[in-house]
Amino acid sequence: MSVNKDIRRVTTHTLHEMKMRGEKISMLTAYDYTMAGIIDAAGIDVILVGDSASNVMAGHETTLPITLDQMIYHASSVVRACKRSLVVVDMPFGTYQGNSKVALNSAIRVMKETGGHAIKMEGGEEIEDSIKRILTAGIPVMGHLGLTPQSIYKFGTYQVRAKEEMEAERLKRDAQLLEEAGVFAIVLEKIPAALAAEVAASVQVPIIGIGAGNGVDGQVLVLHDMLGLTQDFSPRFLRRYAQLGETMRQAVKEYIADVKSVDFPNASEQY
Ligand code: KIV
Repeated sequence: MSVNKDIRRVTTHTLHEMKMRGEKISMLTAYDYTMAGIIDAAGIDVILVGDSASNVMAGHETTLPITLDQMIYHASSVVRACKRSLVVVDMPFGTYQGNSKVALNSAIRVMKETGGHAIKMEGGEEIEDSIKRILTAGIPVMGHLGLTPQSIYKFGTYQVRAKEEMEAERLKRDAQLLEEAGVFAIVLEKIPAALAAEVAASVQVPIIGIGAGNGVDGQVLVLHDMLGLTQDFSPRFLRRYAQLGETMRQAVKEYIADVKSVDFPNASEQY
């Protein structure tokens, strides 16, 4: 999979080795060429082309509306920018649930048309057939349990999941089932830290958390949230590493002022 002999591509195998030696895995979302190029060059291990593109790129309230064609557009842009990171592409709502043949066709389209290295699917037992069928085609699958945003209308809220014994037991069973099915990693979203740590200790595959504490094998955040480009989303688990939204607003204000005052362009900025 290497494209450049000086840069070693992160693979699903690399992630497994990282878990085995206790090295934490870093993962962020990206949806376009420019952002993906920056975070790939910064050394991120995994780039997730998340269906959160539906929220942060398209302004939808949920992840449900984004289509397979739109995910393919975002993912192919990301892949063109990445020299080192493993690129995982979210399968959008409605492209894999309920019919494993449809699921396989959707996954094949993602792999053929984007050049991505793996896909991610939300759910456990209820999508087992689809996961197994996709795996038989040699397509690596990342699982996603806990808060699964594609099921928001079933849950009704974005609150912490699996706080109750029954749901926690079900999540543990699903994690085992996904591991036995052959997924290469599992995202655990917004569940109690102790439960996430217990799952991470009980399976061989890397567990990547978001709002799942630090007892797991790696962390993922939505890029636009951690960079402070989005403002209206502030869950407890979100650490903002920059305030780029504010930086951009200031830059645009300065530009407007310079245009109005004819300070821009100056003599050295024209032909
Ligand atoms: O779509 C997404 O960004 C995700 C992450 C939050 C894990 O699934």
